Amino acid sequence: MKVVVLTGAGISAESGVPTFRDSDGLWEGHDVMEVATPEGFAANPVLVQRFYDLRRAHLAKVEPNAAHVALARLEESLGDDLLVITQNVDDLHERAGSTRVLHMHGELLSALCLSCGARFPWETDLSDSPPCPACGESTLRPDVVWFGEIPYRMDEALQALQEADLFVAVGTSAQVQPAAAFVHWAAEQGARTLEINLAGTISTDDFDESRQGRAGDLLPQWVEELLAEG
Ligand code: APR
Repeated sequence: MKVVVLTGAGISAESGVPTFRDSDGLWEGHDVMEVATPEGFAANPVLVQRFYDLRRAHLAKVEPNAAHVALARLEESLGDDLLVITQNVDDLHERAGSTRVLHMHGELLSALCLSCGARFPWETDLSDSPPCPACGESTLRPDVVWFGEIPYRMDEALQALQEADLFVAVGTSAQVQPAAAFVHWAAEQGARTLEINLAGTISTDDFDESRQGRAGDLLPQWVEELLAEG
């Protein structure tokens, strides 16, 4: 059985990583257009670099939670038949043991050089304009996808959705495209669909089944059920 799991900020919430649109979410304290668009970065690069420096540094203080661990366990059983497509830019899936993770919005722990296009694992600040290890130019930016930019590896994501027997969305408010359309792409070709989220979303009615509660509780339960189905 081929399974695609889409994760959003809600899967990392119990690890202490803020979501975007909940009451204490990231977008409550910041202007999206200022810190999550190429135009905002061009207008105030140091402010934007510092916004991501803080989020990158925070990752060192948090740990994967039971939901991340459950998906890593599912990969141990399903292997290449499981793909996690995450909107999250944290590394909690990988730290829980998942290896088949597609970061469609990029990764905080990666830097992209605007001069030569090279990418590098990056754990420290970028607001002090370090030189690109490849070309030496001080033109590194966070390797994350901003509004108005093209999400990464969508061809691979679409291929996996075309082949999926089961599509699960975990911890996402379904407010951002193209991720919010994945449930339709999967259902159109016959996949069963399940939403696991703290609360209902604008897409809840588009899923065959919706389970509402904390991902740390519901995802391990669902993985146990799926593995018991054999
Ligand atoms: N368990 C399950 N779901 C949770 C939990 C939890 N413990 N805590 C919060 N949630 C749910 C919320 O109810 C909400 O529906 O997670 C969802 C988080 O929604 P958003 O904050 O909108 O995050 P997300 O859907 O991942 O945002 C998508 O928007 O700003 C862009 O690039 C950013 O990747 C992000 C994209």
